[in-house]
Amino acid sequence: MNVINLLSEHISNQIAAGEVIQRPASVVKELLENAIDAGATEINIFIKDAGRTNIVIQDNGKGMTPDDAILSFKRHSTSKLNHVEDLFKMKTKGFRGEALASIGAISQVTMKTKHEKTDGNGFHIEYAGGKLIQKEECLCETGTIIEVKNIFFNVPARRSFLKSESVEFTHIRHEFERVAMAHNEVKLTLNQNDTEIYNLPESNIRKRITDVLGRNSNEKLVPILEETDIISITGFVGKPETSKKSRGEQYFFVNKRFFKHAYFHHAIAKAFDQLIPEKTHPSYFVFFEIDPSKIDINIHPTKTEINFEESKFIYSILLSSVKQALGKYNITPTIDFDIDNSFDLPHSKRNTEPKEPEIKVDPSYNPFSSFEKKNTVHDNKSSALNKQGFGHDPSPKDWENFYEIEDESDKKSNQLIEQDPQYFKQEFLIRERYIITNSKSGILIIDSKRARQRMIYDEMMNQFVSAPLDSQKLLFALEIEMNKDEIDSWKGSESLLKQLGFNFKSDSNKIIFESLPSYLDENDSKTCIENVTKVIMGDDADKGELAHEIVLNLIRSTHRIIQFKTNEEIKDFIERLFSHKDHSFCPLGKPIMQTKSLEELTSNF
Ligand SMILES: Nc1ncnc2c1ncn2[C@@H]1O[C@H](COP(=O)(O)OP(=O)(O)O)[C@@H](O)[C@H]1O
Ligand SMILES: [Mg+2]
Repeated sequence: MNVINLLSEHISNQIAAGEVIQRPASVVKELLENAIDAGATEINIFIKDAGRTNIVIQDNGKGMTPDDAILSFKRHSTSKLNHVEDLFKMKTKGFRGEALASIGAISQVTMKTKHEKTDGNGFHIEYAGGKLIQKEECLCETGTIIEVKNIFFNVPARRSFLKSESVEFTHIRHEFERVAMAHNEVKLTLNQNDTEIYNLPESNIRKRITDVLGRNSNEKLVPILEETDIISITGFVGKPETSKKSRGEQYFFVNKRFFKHAYFHHAIAKAFDQLIPEKTHPSYFVFFEIDPSKIDINIHPTKTEINFEESKFIYSILLSSVKQALGKYNITPTIDFDIDNSFDLPHSKRNTEPKEPEIKVDPSYNPFSSFEKKNTVHDNKSSALNKQGFGHDPSPKDWENFYEIEDESDKKSNQLIEQDPQYFKQEFLIRERYIITNSKSGILIIDSKRARQRMIYDEMMNQFVSAPLDSQKLLFALEIEMNKDEIDSWKGSESLLKQLGFNFKSDSNKIIFESLPSYLDENDSKTCIENVTKVIMGDDADKGELAHEIVLNLIRSTHRIIQFKTNEEIKDFIERLFSHKDHSFCPLGKPIMQTKSLEELTSNF
């Protein structure tokens, strides 16, 4: 009995759509590329709800005839490829003829288009769930306007996989930025929920990159340039001092198409070797122009990897041109080309009065809700957290009975601190940091700085669950320039960060801190903010670990020494330390105390 069917075009389009269109950002990418391929010099994008409900892309490209407009929604319909050989000469972004068919299969699409050679009316068609609903003549300008509504309306499983609005919009923004950087000749706008996110005039490549990156980025760029028979390399690398703790501003384009390439990335990293601190990443914007037959772009539509025939050669000239550019920059400062300076003007909001920060607390918010599950995974972070007994009540213990603690894992440290009351007890403070006191078996040395870190850490981690940590209002708001990803991350973790004492507003290119955690020393605030940025930009940190990491960063930044005035204060301090469950190690995992046994002491004499 035969069991094999041919899938209907409708079903096969839906399956293909699953591959081509993964999220609203894929729609934006495909439609943007179509507009570029159509020769548009102006493209406007309007997004609602991060593309869930509405995506509109309007271009002034060459448009389509009514027949082409209908054909364009059929699978494998393309004007960009006729013969197999064409595959190796691709100058356009698309060539598979799958995008519109896929978009039409999983959403409700309206298209108005008018071909450049048509005198009369344009043409309007509507597609929904892969079916042509309507076609008629209409009035419109030359070019194409496509509206995509209710993406995945007929594939609920996919719709429910969409992430939060901010995540989905970040994806859209990334797709937009990749096209924008490569096509400085096109005027582009991006609007979300009636807010203008980008308005990029036609400009030179340097200005376009700085328009996308934000204020002051111009002076951070060093040009690179290399022409060979095989390839031309142009673009910019960030000056070494602008290297970032988070990756992100790293862009390769080949023939104006964005791609990722670990091997070429390595070449640039190598050129920066020794010039930037460890664990920081250089920025780069590198444009390759190469004969299309020397690259293989015949890859999956959503993948960004591209294979190069001459990759070893390209590696070495990329390395040398970046090195050369950095070398030149060291001797002579970069010269500005025809650049419009207006975007470097100081921001008008600079001098606004700092306002009293408003702190809202969500009483149902439990930062550790997802943490308990994760404890089963034994990575460093969670074991550090584990040590704190998070999720359990803190178990304070008295100074008198601290040596009775019979915790398997803590046996060693408990022996360290045994004391015999019959000895005369006296505490000494060495260099304002180390406390020396008697223990039963000899002497006990406590690093008061680390001890203080332990206390602050425990206090913070216990306190912030129920109330925001103490926050110090700044006399002058602290403005830190950030890129859009970094700003999104701060906004995305705002409630947690507020609980931890960071109160801030955001602008298009900076975060304006109005108050900072009180524990933070003023001089360390910038480094701490940089580190926190890195933490919150990590993909998969859950709330508990995020708090742990951020508090660790706060603690790393506390250099204050304790000014003990009396012996009593030292005694109290030791007492307090031993009331903490994990008094032997600081939150960064380093020992807080050491003992020297009597035998050790005697053997030294
Ligand atoms: N904005 C547009 N302006 C003009 N023509 C377009 C536009 N979008 C799509 N088309 C036409 O529709 C065809 C199908 O588009 P698509 O499904 O994205 O496939 P591909 O881009 O791979 O050819 C394109 O080849 C092009 O001829
Ligand atoms: Mg296309």
